[in-house]
Amino acid sequence: MTEIATIILAAGAGSRMKSAKPKVLHQIAGRAMISHLLGTVAQLKAAKSVVVVAPQMDDVRAEVVPAQTAVQAEALGTGHAVAAALPELVGFSGTVLILYGDTPLITRETLEKMIDLCNREDGPAVVVLGFEPDDPAEYGRLVTTDGGQLSAITEYADASNEVRAIGLCNSGVMAIDADHIHDLVGALSNENSKGEYYLTDIVEIANKADLSCAAVIGDEDELLGVNNRTQLAQAEKIAQRIWRQTAMQNGATLIDPDSVFFSHDTVLGRDVVIEPNVFFGPGVTVGDDVRIKANSHIEGATIGDGAQIGPFARLRPGADLAAQVKVGNFVEIKKATLEKGAKVSHLSYIGDARIGVAANIGAGTITCNYDGYNKFKTDIGAGAFIGSNTALVAPVSIGNGAIIGAGSTVTKSVETDALMVERADEIQKSGWATRFRKMKLRLKK
Ligand code: UD1
Ligand code: MG
Repeated sequence: MTEIATIILAAGAGSRMKSAKPKVLHQIAGRAMISHLLGTVAQLKAAKSVVVVAPQMDDVRAEVVPAQTAVQAEALGTGHAVAAALPELVGFSGTVLILYGDTPLITRETLEKMIDLCNREDGPAVVVLGFEPDDPAEYGRLVTTDGGQLSAITEYADASNEVRAIGLCNSGVMAIDADHIHDLVGALSNENSKGEYYLTDIVEIANKADLSCAAVIGDEDELLGVNNRTQLAQAEKIAQRIWRQTAMQNGATLIDPDSVFFSHDTVLGRDVVIEPNVFFGPGVTVGDDVRIKANSHIEGATIGDGAQIGPFARLRPGADLAAQVKVGNFVEIKKATLEKGAKVSHLSYIGDARIGVAANIGAGTITCNYDGYNKFKTDIGAGAFIGSNTALVAPVSIGNGAIIGAGSTVTKSVETDALMVERADEIQKSGWATRFRKMKLRLKK
């Protein structure tokens, strides 16, 4: 079997993003573009993978761990970037796959198609992945002969009007025979309008050396190159469309799929129903038979079987909800465990807490978990009943089965099965309101 090595280019400044952050760290569905790509590449079981970064890109280096990195001292073009990685591939023989860090949606199947062609007996020395986008914009163009051979790639900036009229574009992805890559890249020059070493020139160089080049046609949605924020939004849209489809194929009901946003790692159980306008941030796992009602925002949360969430619920990181839990409207849960059947139905904040089995938290209950310096824990026992508008000043614990009267501010721990009420005495004066109104009417000018 022919071995595979991959080079991922990520050293470009990404100036068209107008960002302080390297382009490849911009996220799609909550995950950096470069990491999407590394996830796909990992499935190919490459013998070697090298990510090319710029000298200052410690943040990219940290993101791609444990992948190996090579430093391109100066961003002098995609060909120059590949050259920076080649010392890592001395002695490697097989197929070198080159990917661009800003083309994150490519699939394993497409990459395998290219590798298969390159590996064929008498297969081409260079295989380029082309696509035919609706708008060819400023992509490089693939120039082919009448016989269908790939003769050149011409960058948009250097292309004549005739070449710009070609609809077949360069995705940037290439498979190159390792036996030739060192010579081909070594022959690149920077004589072009941008003064850069274009990787794309290796097609002409290979042809001149009587090495054959071929194009494989891929799907536009997979090959979108992200150079600016508009393309980033397009890539997000494509990724979301795929995840919505996958969620439905796997047995979730999405009432209005277009208004549900998934994260790259969202896990959904069977027979989950998701109402319109629901957003999943990273780290969410949803059990079976869960209903997530409209306008809920969920991240870093685990939701047990049969739970009901929302409408208008917010689950933040560390929200761990067991089976049959109910979290209702305008409720925020952070770093809290809700045990089986616990209910927080309306207008509450529960943070740094444990809510015991089947406990009921009344409307407007707040765990006062923060004193401006530190966070403290609230512990509520099984079957406890917290009356509406209760402030639980942490650290505090409420025993199993205890009842807290509505409107209480609780600062001391409450015993099992006790009643705790903290409330000023009520005063009632019969007929006072009638007398008050009469007096007011008399004095009114
Ligand atoms: C490139 C291709 C173009 C293709 C398009 C597809 C070249 C010369 N052009 O253009 O034919 O249609 O991608 O999306 O290859 N990079 C480095 N070092 C550099 C320059 C770039 O590592 O010195 C990296 C960037 O980080 C990026 C990738 O290479 O991930 C592509 O660079 P970019 O500047 O986006 O090239 P495009 O203009 O999009
Ligand atoms: Mg690009």
